[in-house]
Amino acid sequence: MQRVAIVGSGHLAHALWEGWHLNPLPSRTFSLIVRSDAHRHLWDDAVWNTVVYDPSAVKGHDVVVIAVNPKDAATTLTQLHPHLEDAMVISPIAGWSIAKLRAHGISGPLVRIMPNVCAAIGASTTLATFDGCDSAQQEALEALIGECGPVTVVEESLMDPYTALVGSGPAYIFLLLEALIASGERLGADAGRTRQLVSSMVEGAARLARHRSNEPLSTWIEQVASPGGTTEALLAVLNQAKWPHLIQDAIVAASLRAQELGAKT
Ligand SMILES: NC(=O)c1ccc[n+]([C@@H]2O[C@H](COP(=O)([O-])OP(=O)(O)OC[C@H]3O[C@@H](n4cnc5c(N)ncnc54)[C@H](OP(=O)(O)O)[C@@H]3O)[C@@H](O)[C@H]2O)c1
Repeated sequence: MQRVAIVGSGHLAHALWEGWHLNPLPSRTFSLIVRSDAHRHLWDDAVWNTVVYDPSAVKGHDVVVIAVNPKDAATTLTQLHPHLEDAMVISPIAGWSIAKLRAHGISGPLVRIMPNVCAAIGASTTLATFDGCDSAQQEALEALIGECGPVTVVEESLMDPYTALVGSGPAYIFLLLEALIASGERLGADAGRTRQLVSSMVEGAARLARHRSNEPLSTWIEQVASPGGTTEALLAVLNQAKWPHLIQDAIVAASLRAQELGAKT
């Protein structure tokens, strides 16, 4: 039996919960340790009726997931660490390094992860850095995290950049989708159908980029943009507004913010 405790009931905790319940294992139990009812609306009543408000309830769990914000991490770890026993800890806390987690009392096997909300459908692209885990512990943690989507083990120095690229990533893709749907509406297309079509288009483009990774993306842009055609008109507007640079500036800002969150709290 594997006993997993999730501390925090916010957006990421809920996405992971959903991911882990896509194909639930009979040999695993979950406990949800919450601070307040503030995020109750995310959960159905059946789940919420089982929540525990006491941090000492992490006692006796094999895995503890600390899904709280960086600003609450120090207080939460102070409350939790005397009760962690031999638990393996999963930390998705943005900006919080392994050294910092250790300095706040986490002494056992630890994995720092950067997942995203696509965990809810088992499609998170998750980065992981392991520390103090033997091979069996790493395997068990990778299997658990992997149920929410593919896991890539990276060196810790890449965590802040990938927090911006992969953790925050779905937000700018959703923003792009929203803008595409709004432009469809402006041109008279139905929003529901446009959402299906453009989501599928983004999925197709992403798959092509991944599967043909030896071909430069500029080649694919050229293939779509025939001279004097519609794509050229579209790219002219985006390039004039320095869209590619704007995206880079946004990612750099998010990565710096991850560093700040780790340094400040
Ligand atoms: N959201 C994402 O897409 C995403 C992606 C990757 C990583 N992350 C990381 O995941 C963490 C959580 O993010 P989030 O978006 O889920 O934040 P969120 O929606 O604001 O949820 C944070 C949760 O932590 C709870 N909490 C704080 N202190 C607690 C304590 N001592 N005991 C129990 N629960 C406590 C809060 O309780 P209340 O309900 O009382 O406020 C809230 O439910 C952050 O560190 C973030 O960097 C998030």
